[in-house]
Amino acid sequence: MTLINGKELSQKIRKNVKKEIETLETVGITPGLAVLLVGDDPASKTYVSMKEKACEEAGIYSIVHKMPNSISQNKILEILDMINKNDYIDGILVQLPLPAQIDTNKILETIDPSKDVDGFHPFNVGRLVSNLDSFVPCTPLGVMRMFEEYGIDPKGKDVCIVGASNIVGKPMLNLLLNAGATVDICHIFTKDLKAHTSKADIVIVGVGKAGLISQDMVKDNAIVIDIGINRLESGKLVGDVDFKTVAPKCSFITPVPGGVGPMTIAMLLENTLKAAKNRNKKKVK
Ligand code: GUN
Repeated sequence: MTLINGKELSQKIRKNVKKEIETLETVGITPGLAVLLVGDDPASKTYVSMKEKACEEAGIYSIVHKMPNSISQNKILEILDMINKNDYIDGILVQLPLPAQIDTNKILETIDPSKDVDGFHPFNVGRLVSNLDSFVPCTPLGVMRMFEEYGIDPKGKDVCIVGASNIVGKPMLNLLLNAGATVDICHIFTKDLKAHTSKADIVIVGVGKAGLISQDMVKDNAIVIDIGINRLESGKLVGDVDFKTVAPKCSFITPVPGGVGPMTIAMLLENTLKAAKNRNKKKVK
């Protein structure tokens, strides 16, 4: 069994991003990221401060727009319009979830697609589905990068994705389909989850349910990617996979923490760098 070390890989990627940004600086380009944080959800606040810190380390200029839970949709749209027009900003990220009074799709559709470093705008979603160059959501992109690093080729493999969200499951499905995998996608209405997971060469799960994937649900030598993050009452952080019993059966598995999580931030930095390069094509060789 090989443990896929996302922490180590993400550090390597972050170092490379930093180096490339140092080169861009010599031609007067500093990538800029604007983050919108609405309300005071503790998890969102933690993620945003991690993203801020990662930007600072990489040499990306970042600004966080913090807004109260009670903010109106129009006010957010106004702020987005301002950021869309701001030439110092290459990437825009709206931390999700948004409060109930806000139409999330309307907000995401307002982001300039060329600054959409989360890859949630329908323009980028459509380009991904069509296998065209696009901004790809950071978590599934991080999983693909892990496969590459560990010599795992999804082509011809049977993959089972558990969780069909716009942020993880659906983009993961499209990336894998584009890479030549046969993909099964399961969700809350799936009749018999085990029937799907147990025949897969690769199981990818991200639903936020500790212990959802047990030993009997994966076949021998499976590759298991755990995107879940759950905090137990004891304070311990665990994924959606019962790691202790599942890991010995696997050929590869990601731990939680230290697996997919750190890759998400590394991919955000790469996407921001990509946006900055795209937007300064004349200055970049
Ligand atoms: N909320 C949970 N995951 C994400 C993510 O990848 N990006 C954003 N913007 N919000 C999230």
